[in-house]
Amino acid sequence: MNLFFEIHKDLPREGPGDPLSTERAFQVIPDLPVNPTILDIGCGPGTQTVQLAKLSNGTVYAIDMHQPFLDQLQNQAEKHHVIKQIHPLKMSMMDLKFEPTSFDLIWSEGAIYIMGFQNGLESWKPFIKPGGYLAVSELCWLKDNPPQEVKAYWEDDYPGMKSNQENLKIIEQAGYTVLDHFFLPENSWWDHYYKPIQERLNLLRSQYADQPEAIKMLDASQREIDIFKNYFGWYSYAFYILKN
Ligand SMILES: C[S@@+](CC[C@H](N)C(=O)[O-])C[C@H]1O[C@@H](n2cnc3c(N)ncnc32)[C@H](O)[C@@H]1O
Repeated sequence: MNLFFEIHKDLPREGPGDPLSTERAFQVIPDLPVNPTILDIGCGPGTQTVQLAKLSNGTVYAIDMHQPFLDQLQNQAEKHHVIKQIHPLKMSMMDLKFEPTSFDLIWSEGAIYIMGFQNGLESWKPFIKPGGYLAVSELCWLKDNPPQEVKAYWEDDYPGMKSNQENLKIIEQAGYTVLDHFFLPENSWWDHYYKPIQERLNLLRSQYADQPEAIKMLDASQREIDIFKNYFGWYSYAFYILKN
């Protein structure tokens, strides 16, 4: 198995986030229909998809390119009795196979970076009903002039990373209105994402002790966690809740 997926297999989330932040973003939306139609893009294992189904009482189409994540979502949806509301689909965010204006709400936690923030905002817009909503989280700098080590790390890992102010401008230029935005707190990085990964890395490190290539890859994941430990406060995800 690909070691990346061995690190990430069966984790509760595939990016920073937490139930309180998902709910906070959802509550900002003022006037969804009684049973809205929602698209969750880059759903991963689908913790937030299941929560969205419960919060909205709507139908949630959930797309991802990695079938084991979609299977994990399917299991979670069955366990939480929302399987009738959820449709997991293997589909690329770059080639959405839906009719224009299909959705009351598009949701995407920690995944829009894959096609670039601006590109994602622009290309998903036609699929949102006029007056509908987009809720999306994106990594951003919280302060100017970050220390060289963290700056270099993220320049290498995500060269498209911008400041919150720059993202707000991009949002406006793409033709959305910002209803609200907030930054993910430290616990949504640690409790819901890095802690389970750290436990997995410790396990795999002993398993692959005699395989230098694998250890190199584990070191790369460890580095992201260490950067977070040393430099949280300089960056986080911003959750933007937008009206079309
Ligand atoms: C950082 S994870 C976020 C997952 C989930 N939203 C969460 O917060 O736990 C990004 C997800 O995007 C998926 N992905 C990658 N490329 C994709 C594409 N072209 N179309 C749809 N999903 C994609 C990955 O498989 C992964 O599940």
